[in-house]
Amino acid sequence: MIASSFQTTLAVFALIVLHVCALDTFKAAVYEHAVILPNNTETPVSREDALLLMNKNIDILERAIKQAAEQGAQIIVTPEDALYGWKFTRETIFPYLEDIPDPQENWIPCKDPRRFGHTPVQVRLSCLAKNNSIYVVANTGDKKPCNSHDSTCPLNGYYQYNTNVVYDSEGKLVARYHKYHLYRELQFDVPKKPELVTFSTPFGKFGIFTCFDILFCDPAVTLVQDFHVDTILFPAAWMNVLPLLTAIEFHSAWAMGMRVNLLAANIHHVRLNMTGSGIYAPHSPKAYHYDMDTNSGKILLAEVDAHPRTAPTYPAAVNWGAYTVGIQPFPLLKNSFRGFISRDEFNFKELLENAGNLTVCDEELCCHLSYKMLAKEENEVYVLGAFTGLHGQRKREYWQVCTMLKCKSTNLTTCGQPVETALTRFEMFSLSGTFGTEYVFPEVLLTKINLAPGKFEVLKDGRLVNKNGSSEPILAVSLFGRWYTRDKPLPISRTSDSAKNYLMISTLLGIIALQNIVMV
Ligand SMILES: *[C@@H]1O[C@H](CO)[C@@H](O)[C@H](O)[C@H]1NC(C)=O
Ligand SMILES: *[C@@H]1O[C@H](CO)[C@@H](O)[C@H](O)[C@H]1NC(C)=O
Ligand SMILES: *[C@@H]1O[C@H](CO)[C@@H](O)[C@H](O)[C@H]1NC(C)=O
Ligand SMILES: *[C@@H]1O[C@H](CO)[C@@H](O)[C@H](O)[C@H]1NC(C)=O
Ligand SMILES: *[C@@H]1O[C@H](CO)[C@@H](O)[C@H](O)[C@H]1NC(C)=O
Ligand SMILES: *[C@@H]1O[C@H](CO)[C@@H](O)[C@H](O)[C@H]1NC(C)=O
Repeated sequence: MIASSFQTTLAVFALIVLHVCALDTFKAAVYEHAVILPNNTETPVSREDALLLMNKNIDILERAIKQAAEQGAQIIVTPEDALYGWKFTRETIFPYLEDIPDPQENWIPCKDPRRFGHTPVQVRLSCLAKNNSIYVVANTGDKKPCNSHDSTCPLNGYYQYNTNVVYDSEGKLVARYHKYHLYRELQFDVPKKPELVTFSTPFGKFGIFTCFDILFCDPAVTLVQDFHVDTILFPAAWMNVLPLLTAIEFHSAWAMGMRVNLLAANIHHVRLNMTGSGIYAPHSPKAYHYDMDTNSGKILLAEVDAHPRTAPTYPAAVNWGAYTVGIQPFPLLKNSFRGFISRDEFNFKELLENAGNLTVCDEELCCHLSYKMLAKEENEVYVLGAFTGLHGQRKREYWQVCTMLKCKSTNLTTCGQPVETALTRFEMFSLSGTFGTEYVFPEVLLTKINLAPGKFEVLKDGRLVNKNGSSEPILAVSLFGRWYTRDKPLPISRTSDSAKNYLMISTLLGIIALQNIVMV
């Protein structure tokens, strides 16, 4: 009797321990933050003024963190640049920076605030995590002293990095990541090589990177493929670009294509087209937010699989070219025409009938579409488009894209231009392409910039198909492929002989980037 009850107790205890050590699911939160911007980023402010502004922003993040914790979230992600905004020079960002130590130091700033000098931002973030027993993911600036023995040391004697930090529920710094693929950020330096930052928790293994990083192989793809993380933490300050690179559209597609959880927190800044955050699972978005009508922040919460690979909903691996290998191209009628999405020249073909089968090719990439519209709207025109090649003006990243999209007007010269509303519903669509890469991200964007969770899927043979009859009117259905091994390396070597050269090159790269405002 006693033994048996002891065993029962042990068993129950073991179950509880197991439960605590390896949760099946967890509650995730992301916060889209309407950042309070500095009045002035052209002349340096004092450290006091910099702290004043950062604390105003942290006051708002604090409310979100408390709310997330009260609703049972284990982790909250906040956006890139959420403490101070953007458009700085190296000199004007400096008062906002703190030296952020290596997580191996095992530091709990909230408990030991003086250990690494004056670090009030880190102490406050750590206390928010500790006091609310929640993992907090934030983005801030790191400065690392260097000297003249280091030939690439910048003139002011500091490397300056765009940095993500993660504090665990005890307030301990558990991750620090320096952004690698900077986007028009003259104030920051590029780390010597991409950092692969992971950490483990009772609710899965996490990887982390920032904004523009998501368009490249390292560290983004490597974290998923080689480090087998369950969930990516993704602070961003993402400017939406229709029709292919709206935040919610591309980020949800990346999670599906890579078959990983992605917790994406974007800045909210309507004038710069920055909105769109989400909690994305491999099979479908769990929660998303897109709002161009108000200036308010927004918290999102959702239950997520801790180990999506072993979950019943985990999608099968896709062989992207498989379907197209087995079929004859649909008749290549001679009515295709050239058109542009941003600066990329596509081959387009109009969807002339209510229903049909179409193929359009651009060099080695052929895109196939079968479709049936519920009704063909008089004043709406859709096209099927194909593009393969180096993207944009910089011509560094190799893209392969198949897309079916609504043109801005019935004038075919407007196909590929941003359009936000549509009326045409599709009873059926099936899109596939002869991709040379295995990195293809499936996008479906509905009228008024909405996603279609659960309404489409990717079959094992690479077809992107609708799942259950007609849905809301469609803006674009796309297979966005990235062929990383065909990317062009940076035109000028990053490591130069002198700090002066280094600065000059950064400036040059910045100018090139500036000319690319809509080019991502
Ligand atoms: C910006 O300037 C206005 C007016 O001078 C002032 O009220 C406000 O506090 C300033 N904001 C910041 C972040 O310094
Ligand atoms: C955390 O809690 C301590 C006391 O429990 C309090 O002194 C401190 O102000 C709190 N910090 C934050 C950032 O909430
Ligand atoms: C925002 O997006 C619209 C179209 O979607 C575009 O016309 C406008 O130029 C964009 N604004 C900025 C600041 O990029
Ligand atoms: C498209 O092709 C499928 C088979 O591949 C065929 O069943 C269907 O009738 C075709 N649709 C049209 C409108 O030609
Ligand atoms: C279509 O737009 C182009 C360029 O905006 C213009 O030159 C052309 O006349 C338009 N065609 C029609 C049929 O309106
Ligand atoms: C599928 O569509 C049918 C009819 O359009 C609808 O009744 C049903 O609820 C849908 N199922 C799902 C899972 O959306």
